Amino acid sequence: MKFYIATDHAGYAVKEDVIEYLKAKGHEVTDLGPDSPQRVDYPDFAKKLANTIVKDEGSFGILICGTGIGISIAANKVDGIRAALCHDAYTAQMCREHNDANVLCFGERVVGQGVIESMIDAFCSAEFQGGRHLGRVQKIGCMRVDS
Ligand code: RB5
Repeated sequence: MKFYIATDHAGYAVKEDVIEYLKAKGHEVTDLGPDSPQRVDYPDFAKKLANTIVKDEGSFGILICGTGIGISIAANKVDGIRAALCHDAYTAQMCREHNDANVLCFGERVVGQGVIESMIDAFCSAEFQGGRHLGRVQKIGCMRVDS
């Protein structure tokens, strides 16, 4: 699978380990930053990754901040992004199978390396099931403020 990864300063410390893990599993990974642990704003990196994923059809993203909350909220503002905040292998599997998630998000302050690796494995092994889930995902894609 082709991955892009980005974090804020609170997700920076685990980024290299995640990249190494993905590469060891045979995936392609591009690091979209940041390139130092200096304080940054998570919406900037969420936006950068989200735009990249949308333009590179079939690619996937990993976004990490302190909790995973802010960076997932921000990424989901971009059309075509389905960013899932996950906490374990089950949620990482289900976000692919039911929600066709294209970005896996988590919090560095929430999960340890073992859980991170199990989430990546689950996310990569699962496939979107389509069927009754397809119409729901399509409804997400055209959600706008009611006029
Ligand atoms: C940074 O301190 C923290 O607020 C950020 O990484 C994230 O957890 C926000 O949702």
